[in-house]
Amino acid sequence: MTNWEEQKEHLINFGILPVDNVPKNVLDYLKNNYDTNNPHNAHLAGQIKKEYEFKTWPRYIDDFILKQTLEPLMQKHTKNINVMSSDKPYYLKSLWINLQKKYEFNPMHTHSGVFSFIIFLQIPYKLEDEDKVFPKSSGESPATSRLTFIVNDFMGTAKDINVNVDKDYEGRMLMFPAGMNHLVYPFYTSDDYRITVSGNILFWAE
Ligand SMILES: [Fe+2]
Repeated sequence: MTNWEEQKEHLINFGILPVDNVPKNVLDYLKNNYDTNNPHNAHLAGQIKKEYEFKTWPRYIDDFILKQTLEPLMQKHTKNINVMSSDKPYYLKSLWINLQKKYEFNPMHTHSGVFSFIIFLQIPYKLEDEDKVFPKSSGESPATSRLTFIVNDFMGTAKDINVNVDKDYEGRMLMFPAGMNHLVYPFYTSDDYRITVSGNILFWAE
């Protein structure tokens, strides 16, 4: 079983939606059309030098992203927060790309909006190599290079979910409530970029 398959159910239990396959046209657009003239660092938490905002994107990207908000798990969240007096459509407010280098990291943060997502474009390391840098003992799950969500367990105690993001995550997506704390720990064993695209989804109300 892959890491993706193994952790899917666990993520769903905490309100995080795994999306198996991002369409090729969406992936291709995101990989090839970011503009290094639009740095997004001032708006992001990342200790990451290369973060760029997309100013425009084709309609099929909105369509694919917004389609996920119709999933029952996401609808449940909308119902829970109960912030609108009547149903309003969602829209994709912002979209950006992170090109994370060795030793860079994304400290714990939340996003604005209702939902956020992470599309994995490139994961340049192997977890087995990463885990040799700081080997873990006594059953603790390794944190090196991981995407980590901070959630509350059934007793209300804060706990972390270290997501074992590896090469198999390329072309996949996680969508989650925008207010959920998350972070990305540094990686050590590749000189290439870890590349992800994220964005925020808001209600459209005029
Ligand atoms: Fe984030």
